[in-house]
Amino acid sequence: MRFYLITAIATLIILLTVLSFRQNVWQTNALPYDDEQLGLDDQITINFSHVVAENTPKGLAADKFAQLVKEKSQGKINVQVYPNGILYNDENELAALKNGAIQMIAPTISKMTEALPSWQVLDLPFLFENEDQIYAALHGKLSKNLLAELSTINVHGLSFWNNGFKQIASKIEPIQTVEQFQGLTVRVMPSDLLVQQFNLLGAQPISTTFNDLYKKIQNNEILAQENTLSNLYSKGFYKMQPQITLSNHGLLAYGILMNEDFWQSLDESSQNVITQSLKEMERWQHEQAVALNKINLQQLQDNPNVTFHSLSELQRDQWAKTLQPIYQFYENIGNPQFLTQLYKDIEKTNGNF
Ligand code: LMR
Repeated sequence: MRFYLITAIATLIILLTVLSFRQNVWQTNALPYDDEQLGLDDQITINFSHVVAENTPKGLAADKFAQLVKEKSQGKINVQVYPNGILYNDENELAALKNGAIQMIAPTISKMTEALPSWQVLDLPFLFENEDQIYAALHGKLSKNLLAELSTINVHGLSFWNNGFKQIASKIEPIQTVEQFQGLTVRVMPSDLLVQQFNLLGAQPISTTFNDLYKKIQNNEILAQENTLSNLYSKGFYKMQPQITLSNHGLLAYGILMNEDFWQSLDESSQNVITQSLKEMERWQHEQAVALNKINLQQLQDNPNVTFHSLSELQRDQWAKTLQPIYQFYENIGNPQFLTQLYKDIEKTNGNF
């Protein structure tokens, strides 16, 4: 009995010894060096939330910005991009930015107009004839004035990004004449001026978030919408609203915004990395947006279920004439000086941009 007990204890000791060596229990060497840990305390993370897909002008720009900031800061600043409204949608992203839950957002200008009515200047219809004029408006003197307005709501304005011209997509019939808007349920982004635009056209504007839009079209609560080709394509809206009128009647662009306290907490060199990255990508972002909308146009034109329509000169004039009172509407609710500045910025392009 005693012999068996001694043998069992000896076997246990041998087993434990072998096991502990295999698990390096007796090894005194430090753990291998992990360079991911390097300066972890010094790292700065910018959580950047937006509502569209990654393969859109905004999605691509957010990723490019993250890459530039990483390179310029030598890995010190990490921009974490959350697309598709996975963190916040356009109803709550501004509040999340302001309370510091996230550090950066890029809402469509129209979605900022409740807080800053003067920003509706860029919602005005038939302002721009071409992409060069859009670039001049988004990066000229007016843009500085618009960004400065953000200080009134304690948000830091950094830049503007382009998506492009809005078109009209419709579920049932193509929309070309003003009469065809009569009683039509049209989705609008939350901007008084856009609501007024569709009121003037005789339509029934319905304000809804980007994330709820698909369901509302599916349920026939909304028959038409104004949006860019890249948004119509990337979210698959064209499958339900396949009658697309190439109207180029308005602009969809983004304000690039940061939490003010977070911005103030950054040292000067980090602030420079952010502003320089945005400056460096201005032209690239604009051209990328134009190119992507062109690619999406081709993809939609190749789809036999999608039908494109254009506006005759007469129809375009009819829209513009019907919408003319909206300029007075802006002068009453916005800042007339911004409109004057916008015309000056556009004028400078003179077709030789
Ligand atoms: C929309 O709501 O249709 C757009 O503002 C979405 C976006 O961010 O481009």
